[in-house]
Amino acid sequence: MAPRSGKTSGLAIPAILAAPGPVLLTSNKAANDAFTATVDARAEVGTVWTLDPQQIAHHPREMWWDILADARDLAGAKRLAGHFVAASVDESSGSDFWSTAASNTLGALFLAAASHRRPITDVLAWLASPADRTPVDLLTDAGHDAVAAQLQGTVSGATETRDGIYETARQYASCLLDPDVAAWVTPSEDLPEFKPLAFATSRDTLYLLSKDGGGSASAIIAAAADAVMRAAVIVAERSGGRLDPPALCVLDEAANVCRISDLPDLYSHLGSRGVIPMTILQSYGQGQRCWGEAGMDALWSAATVKIVGSGIDDADFADRLSRQVGDHDVQTVSVSTSEGGKSTSVSMRTERILPPDAIRALPKGKVLLLATGLRIAMLSIRPWYKEPSAKVVGPASARATKAITERALAKTVGHDDFGLSA
Ligand SMILES: Nc1ncnc2c1ncn2[C@@H]1O[C@H](COP(=O)(O)OP(=O)(O)OP(=O)(O)O)[C@@H](O)[C@H]1O
Ligand SMILES: [Mg+2]
Repeated sequence: MAPRSGKTSGLAIPAILAAPGPVLLTSNKAANDAFTATVDARAEVGTVWTLDPQQIAHHPREMWWDILADARDLAGAKRLAGHFVAASVDESSGSDFWSTAASNTLGALFLAAASHRRPITDVLAWLASPADRTPVDLLTDAGHDAVAAQLQGTVSGATETRDGIYETARQYASCLLDPDVAAWVTPSEDLPEFKPLAFATSRDTLYLLSKDGGGSASAIIAAAADAVMRAAVIVAERSGGRLDPPALCVLDEAANVCRISDLPDLYSHLGSRGVIPMTILQSYGQGQRCWGEAGMDALWSAATVKIVGSGIDDADFADRLSRQVGDHDVQTVSVSTSEGGKSTSVSMRTERILPPDAIRALPKGKVLLLATGLRIAMLSIRPWYKEPSAKVVGPASARATKAITERALAKTVGHDDFGLSA
């Protein structure tokens, strides 16, 4: 669905308000959006964790999450590096030489830090000085000899190549240079730690907020969402196959703030485990830019319930949907007059039930539902603000939005005071 057509208010928020189990939400907006509309209701049923490294909601840091927890084996470290690459470049350029080499180097450094419980800030220091032997030694020490040798090879290769690889890797990890961002994912003695495994069986809520685009903290958001979904699958497998109640994972603005590259594969594991992913995109093309054409096709087929709303500008996609809705027979009556008098003939014509231009012109609030085993249906979505519960949710959202504004103002006032006294 196009921007402002009701994805958050008609799909994400109602799903979160109705969720019986743990909820994860990714978003790039705080005020008057899913975060403010649901935070009060969710606080009543469990703990609310807000990971807001870029201060979208100006939320104080009241938690930390160990971003390196899953990077203690090679596969996990590579996946984490992949999140940083995917957050910075589109799928099409994510596999060129520099990206691949930088991704391998980042993965090796994450593994070196994670296997010795070093903080992520050490990775930044190693990125800044490629000649530092520490990560190679740490990798060898942890028994990752092949990775150590590979990293050593990169470091002792031609200087231009090495510098190119390290510079690319530094760009991918640049969001961590901000100490205020890195603090959210670095161990802290005084703050509670968010633990994905415990979350899976709780009724807690995790809000993952970030700005869009390269250099933003969206890699952290994707890594956290990935960690939560994988942890939920592990817990489900341990407890008889399914999470009960199920975990709801709303990836709002998925292509902007939650680019999990293997989301299409992940999808097929999640549904059967009681982990319900809900990926929200502005267009099919946005998904293709993020996961590639084949990846988006895989994601599309792996989803058992798909919803397409207003503002579909992609002619091919609209035509594909129109063909899937199918044809019907239309009777046409033609009357012709000749010398012998009038004659009427009736003929049958096959027409699209919903032609592509009608799909293009779907009004706001109307959506097509594609669910396995059903013909495509047209539905009206019911945004939260038109439900009876809006009497409670509306004021709660307004309060939460006001609190964000107040926190933002308090910060600017703080800066001014500093300026005056200086
Ligand atoms: N509390 C409300 N009362 C009345 N209308 C609202 C309210 N909240 C949102 N809307 C309307 O719903 C529309 C869709 O908002 P929503 O945030 O759900 O869109 P979206 O598809 O998520 O957009 P985006 O891609 O920008 O996130 C808005 O344009 C606004 O007109
Ligand atoms: Mg939205």
